[in-house]
Amino acid sequence: MKKIAVLTSGGDAPGMNAAIRAVVRKANYHQVDVMGIYRGYEGFIEGKMELLDLGAVGGIIQRGGTMLFSSRCPEFKEDKYQQQGLEKMKQAGVEGLVVIGGDGSYRGALALSKKGFPCVGVPGTIDNDVPGTEYTIGFDTALNTVVESIDKIRDTATSHENSFIVEVMGRDAGDLALWAGLAAGAESILIPEEPYDLDDIIERMNRGVARGKKHSIIIVAEGVMSGGELAQILKEKAGVHTRVSVLGHIQRGGAPSARDRVLAGRLGARAVEVLLEGGSGRAVGIKNHEVFDYDLDEAFKMKHKAEISLYTLSKELSI
Ligand code: F6P
Repeated sequence: MKKIAVLTSGGDAPGMNAAIRAVVRKANYHQVDVMGIYRGYEGFIEGKMELLDLGAVGGIIQRGGTMLFSSRCPEFKEDKYQQQGLEKMKQAGVEGLVVIGGDGSYRGALALSKKGFPCVGVPGTIDNDVPGTEYTIGFDTALNTVVESIDKIRDTATSHENSFIVEVMGRDAGDLALWAGLAAGAESILIPEEPYDLDDIIERMNRGVARGKKHSIIIVAEGVMSGGELAQILKEKAGVHTRVSVLGHIQRGGAPSARDRVLAGRLGARAVEVLLEGGSGRAVGIKNHEVFDYDLDEAFKMKHKAEISLYTLSKELSI
């Protein structure tokens, strides 16, 4: 291969820039040019791209967001748009693609690979919900953002003796809610993977009050319900008044943590190696601290599952 491309797709995640940098630098190390495709699959379809030289990715390792911009592109499921993009790649002499994104982005990569265009996926999403890898790029930074926010909410919750519901991102996955809940010592955590027990939530709040606790924190992943809905239910069911804080897109921003930068460097570089070794329809991931690669087909047979042992532990620790 003499020329490959890289794109970022789906919700952005801190560390995507560090991954782009790793792809470009590693490819250049092997005398391979890298085209940066703008706006994910939208740019792929239109052939919107330019050459990224070593300097183009200088000074971005510490920056949040993605210098290539991102988009969600539902029409990319259609064959005609995939073909249109492939034609653009052929015209530009691009022989392979690194896709940085979540599992939705992986579907596009798999479709292209099946059409004979080699693609490798790099997991980049704050949700940590890409099947096959233990961690995704962006999760650690988002987690720290959430924990920092909850710590601040706790200060004011204590001063005013309030109970707070904190709504965090995670449409299908509870990792952010779960890890943040454990790290911030939340009384209750609601995640999409586990049924919640309203009586247990209320009992935990009451137990705290009986012990003289001045506040309580409930974390709800958006995939379960909104913070507002939960507050309404608690009010109706137990007459409990809670304040609601929706952290929203603040969770997707900010400078990547050191851990995310290192992960991005390792996974981005490995993705290039996989392409140069002739791999196609593959994804890179991390398991037990080791970088590995696996079939994208396999990824879709697996289902990401939040670590339920952490859920159990959080219940034990927040009696
Ligand atoms: O990137 C994943 C994610 O952060 C989800 O947790 C969330 O539901 C979604 O993105 C929100 O994305 P958008 O703001 O683009 O609708």
